[in-house]
Amino acid sequence: MLDLKAYVVAEQSRMLDELKEFLSIPSVSTTPERAHDCQRAAQWLRNHFQHLGCEQVELLGSETHPVVYAESQSAPDRPTVIVYGHYDVQPADPLDLWESPPFEPTERNGNLYARGATDDKGQVFAVVKAFEAVRGGNGGPPPVNVRFLIEGQEESGSGVLFQLLDERPELLRGDAVLIADMPYYAPGWPAVEVGLRGLCYAEITVRTLEGDLHSGLYGGVAPNALETLVQLLAKLKSPDGRIRIPGLYDAVEPPSQEEVDAWNELPFDEDEFREREVGAKALTGLTGHSVFERVWALPSFEIHGIVGGFTDTGAKTVIPAVATAKVSLRLVPNQRVKAVEEQLQHAVRTAVPPHAEVTVRLLNGADPVLVDVSSKPFSLIDQAFREVEGRGVVPIRSGGSIPVVPVLGKGGAAVVLAGIGLPDDRLHAPNEKINLNQVWKGVRVFGRFLQLMGEAQ
Ligand code: BES
Ligand code: MN
Ligand code: MN
Repeated sequence: MLDLKAYVVAEQSRMLDELKEFLSIPSVSTTPERAHDCQRAAQWLRNHFQHLGCEQVELLGSETHPVVYAESQSAPDRPTVIVYGHYDVQPADPLDLWESPPFEPTERNGNLYARGATDDKGQVFAVVKAFEAVRGGNGGPPPVNVRFLIEGQEESGSGVLFQLLDERPELLRGDAVLIADMPYYAPGWPAVEVGLRGLCYAEITVRTLEGDLHSGLYGGVAPNALETLVQLLAKLKSPDGRIRIPGLYDAVEPPSQEEVDAWNELPFDEDEFREREVGAKALTGLTGHSVFERVWALPSFEIHGIVGGFTDTGAKTVIPAVATAKVSLRLVPNQRVKAVEEQLQHAVRTAVPPHAEVTVRLLNGADPVLVDVSSKPFSLIDQAFREVEGRGVVPIRSGGSIPVVPVLGKGGAAVVLAGIGLPDDRLHAPNEKINLNQVWKGVRVFGRFLQLMGEAQ
């Protein structure tokens, strides 16, 4: 069997050049101006899969944000591993806070800095290189069947992939879905995620006037849209962290005592987490619940941005007629996007004063997931990490969301959420990075996982 460690050592510098090339494509899916770059990233992957010797490589579902589909089914009696990931990235702004430009991948102290480095291009790259490696680097006979589904809209709701999987459910037939889009629990501590939160992201717009007015002539009588909006938002959460949306907590299924006990066994220093990772003077949230419960097993509500009025340099005395807030809720097992959207609509309509008109528009959503980690693929990913990292996986949850995860298991495959990021990778933020050592270990871990899956019955 191929020595993965030796392969990685021999091919490292070429692989690093390839990764830099992939990361330099600004494939931001949330802005229409970057559609062409998303297409370029998809084409980059397609070329790569063709060179790897995948028999079937296609761009599916969209011109600009296609799902890159690549399959190798030349091991007829062997299992099939489906690999899910995404080549799209979040916007890079604020640009001035980056130490090196986000789309000019730069190495510093063993890390590679770029937007998408850890979320998710760097991790997708590690799995692609793992498949290259287990075929001996020359398209030799693969140890297992694979089907790559790498989408270009994860950061904007996964519309294209949802439709594709709806039309072609057979694409999900397989034995395991490997998803490398998340971090280790801590350096040296690989994890398998047993739960992800869901998301209900909405835009709330308030109108109080037919048009903007002079604040000298009308201040004191005319209703201000920004003021109305912030008062409304302030009603949606109490100071103790409880979200004041009627019915929101009804469906919430608390974690079992066993799971909570296991979380309490994890090495965790709340002060260090607060200072180093969060960078805050105090943590907020529901009192009486641990940090893990608050980020993994309870819903949260955040205001992401408020647009309205005058924000340019200098002063302009205006009463704004319209104001908009982008907000989201994270959802936990048993909640559903649809129901939460209705609860939010209702809460907003009840809270808005009669002088204002309000609209709530859902921008994207994801249902939460809990996965059963008792099947064979989980013991194999555990073994692969154990061999390469010297430690097996610890089961944890994550507070983040991946919209398609709930459907990826519909073909009967076990959904394995296990990535190679580190907690300080700063995904979605300035100076996102991936640790290069993690990438090289990742190639070996995922390669080993593919080999082990191939031998499994
Ligand atoms: N990879 C992340 C989600 C994630 C991060 C899962 C860390 C587990 C650990 C993913 O790319 C992401 O950012 N998802 C979005 C959802 C989307 C609908 C905008 C999120 O969680 O905000
Ligand atoms: Mn991701
Ligand atoms: Mn992301």
